[in-house]
Amino acid sequence: LPPVVPQPLAAIAELLICPVCGSKLSPVPGGLACANGHHHDLAREGYVALLGKPVGRAAGDDAPMVSARVETEAAGHLDPMTAAIADAAATPAASDHLLAVDIGAGTGHNLTEVLRRSGRGRGVAIDVSRAACRSIARSHPSLAVVRADVWAQIPLADASVDLALDAFAPRNGAELGRVMRPGGTLVVATAGQGHLKELRRLHSLSVHPDKAAQLRRQLEPWFREVASEPVEWPLSLIADAAANLLRMGPSARHLHPRALEELARSEEPIAVSAAVEITTFVRVAS
Ligand SMILES: C[S@@+](CC[C@H](N)C(=O)[O-])C[C@H]1O[C@@H](n2cnc3c(N)ncnc32)[C@H](O)[C@@H]1O
Ligand SMILES: [Zn+2]
Repeated sequence: LPPVVPQPLAAIAELLICPVCGSKLSPVPGGLACANGHHHDLAREGYVALLGKPVGRAAGDDAPMVSARVETEAAGHLDPMTAAIADAAATPAASDHLLAVDIGAGTGHNLTEVLRRSGRGRGVAIDVSRAACRSIARSHPSLAVVRADVWAQIPLADASVDLALDAFAPRNGAELGRVMRPGGTLVVATAGQGHLKELRRLHSLSVHPDKAAQLRRQLEPWFREVASEPVEWPLSLIADAAANLLRMGPSARHLHPRALEELARSEEPIAVSAAVEITTFVRVAS
């Protein structure tokens, strides 16, 4: 028997668009399909892949990166960021039939917290990574999970989204602008100055001094910045936790095995500064 489309995905299916022809999708046995007969398979874990062209197995975060992120979040190390995202997302502009989307959702943690706090609304988690989609579908069955490459397209209908989150993930301004309704809120989280500075010799992350202006320029034609808030908090990490923090991020692929060994030898907790910038935008009327 073909797998049954999970209810949260079936409920928002008609807001999703076919990556081949752009038409609306409907649930069918084993997946979603458009009126032109393009069928998109449901994965065993309950997510659907809406990919215009194949992106390969290796796209996005791999399974070890996703597990490192799950562990880091479970330990509460990112709680201040998640709380700040949820605060920023709690705007009165959000409609009663709130459709919230998380771009590059990772584990689905931020979106779940936003929806838990608002007590209403439907959530769509989008990520290009197979491992991320698997993890989200398994641990957050109330979310609709879509595997898509947001650089190519965000597979949602025009002006269908009330609230979008984009935390440490790709920002395709034109596509974000297209899918969001005028007045909708976009919450972006980026690394702040000095993020993980104590671990700098182990990672390649650096924050451009002009990052805020770059972000505004990227989104400007479609979005107006309404708030920006630095969120900083201290972490005291045992070696494993510090290693997870590095393994889950963009530095994962550049980490030197020697650096991780060196880290593993430290017996005392390591003091690490976390710094993120939460910037809120409103979709302007076009
Ligand atoms: C650094 S993680 C952030 C995850 C999550 N937003 C969070 O804050 O915990 C970046 C995520 O973006 C995803 N990603 C990278 N490129 C993408 C793309 N082109 N389309 C969709 N997702 C992408 C990765 O797979 C990964 O899950
Ligand atoms: Zn189609």
